[in-house]
Amino acid sequence: MKAFTLTAQPAVIDGKPAYTYDGTVPGPLLRVTQGDRVRVTLVNRLPVATTVHWHGLRVPAAMDGVAGITQDAVAPGARFTYEFLADEAGTFWYHSHQDTGNQIPAGLFGALVVDPVGEPGADVDRTVMLHDTGSGAIAVNGIAGDLRVDARPGQNVRLRIIDAVAPSMDGTTEAPVLLGAPYRVVALDGRDLAGPQELGPRRLQLGMGQRADVVFTMPRSGAVRLVDSRIGGAPSLLQGFFGAPSRAAETVTIGDGPPPAAVDPARVPLFDPLAYGTPAPDPTTARAPDFTAPVVLDEGPGFRDGHIELVHTINGAASPDVPPIVVRRGQLVGLRLVNDTGEFHPMHLHGHVMTVVAVGGRHPTGSPLHLDTVTLAPHETADVVFAADNPGLWMLHCHVLLHAAMGMSMTIDYVGVTTPFTMGAASGNVPE
Ligand code: C2O
Ligand code: CU
Repeated sequence: MKAFTLTAQPAVIDGKPAYTYDGTVPGPLLRVTQGDRVRVTLVNRLPVATTVHWHGLRVPAAMDGVAGITQDAVAPGARFTYEFLADEAGTFWYHSHQDTGNQIPAGLFGALVVDPVGEPGADVDRTVMLHDTGSGAIAVNGIAGDLRVDARPGQNVRLRIIDAVAPSMDGTTEAPVLLGAPYRVVALDGRDLAGPQELGPRRLQLGMGQRADVVFTMPRSGAVRLVDSRIGGAPSLLQGFFGAPSRAAETVTIGDGPPPAAVDPARVPLFDPLAYGTPAPDPTTARAPDFTAPVVLDEGPGFRDGHIELVHTINGAASPDVPPIVVRRGQLVGLRLVNDTGEFHPMHLHGHVMTVVAVGGRHPTGSPLHLDTVTLAPHETADVVFAADNPGLWMLHCHVLLHAAMGMSMTIDYVGVTTPFTMGAASGNVPE
């Protein structure tokens, strides 16, 4: 048993009021070993109700931390104990799932790493969490500017990159570039890739919630540098059609000595996860899904809360009115995710892992891709499949917090499962 306490509390960070876990932004790194039972006691010292969600971990439904679906939001002064088995190794994160659109940007998030048993780790193993500062800038692990990581020549380094940046309305994605050493992308969303080859500089595009683990060996001399850049969607005309201009970048510098020469990230090719690594057998694609449900994403004026407003919809409706996708335990469920907007939508499924079948009509030719968050580019379609093996009521939503708050959220419901909890202002449970 690994036991932690997270105290949600206000703090002043860089002169600005924040909501924090234990007084820091990000919250403390929770690091456990595969097979550990994990117990986390949330103590709420905020003036508002809150929860903790374990993004990417397949926890039992009652431990998923979604206010109004799996629990009541924890009132100021109250506490709640989460307990689950960390049965998958990888890079995950945790964040509030009450009033998410405000509470995550306010600082309620942190990294969670599950180390594998019996595998030697890297010499240097660091989480690299990209997030907002609260004043419109991006920071890495709380540092706006350059984060320094110590490493000596010849050492093996693993960076666990986590995108916790709340995007603007166009769904802007982060796209960090690693410069100064050949590297391998060994995992996406915490799940290992098969046969990852060495790469030169690529933009590793991540929607909010996604993770990428990169591994490299420190060169004989000089530093290695991770430079963040951003790729925006269509409505962000002010940012240009092909992505935001590279801002005076947030960087992570690993090791000493001269850093690699700067590049213009816009000229660096995109990492293509569909053609990376080597194929491997995958039970979720060995047979056809039992059924495939459409998940069509759109935006526009719509009816919500009794009046017409700008909404973000799934299958024509805005949360809480999106009909759930109903599944039975044991089914293999296909989802056809269709983006009818000019924005990016990182679609996150709770409690399950999605296997990518096709994106934009292209099938993976390399490693199977097992993701909990699938980012759809403007007007892109993706087919995924998941094994319905974790009974409960599970959110499927866009991780662009603004979009979710405008209705782009629904649930996957197992037959026969109901919840005693309710959402909405009257209950105080507002998951988005
Ligand atoms: Cu990262 Cu529904 O959450
Ligand atoms: Cu979205």
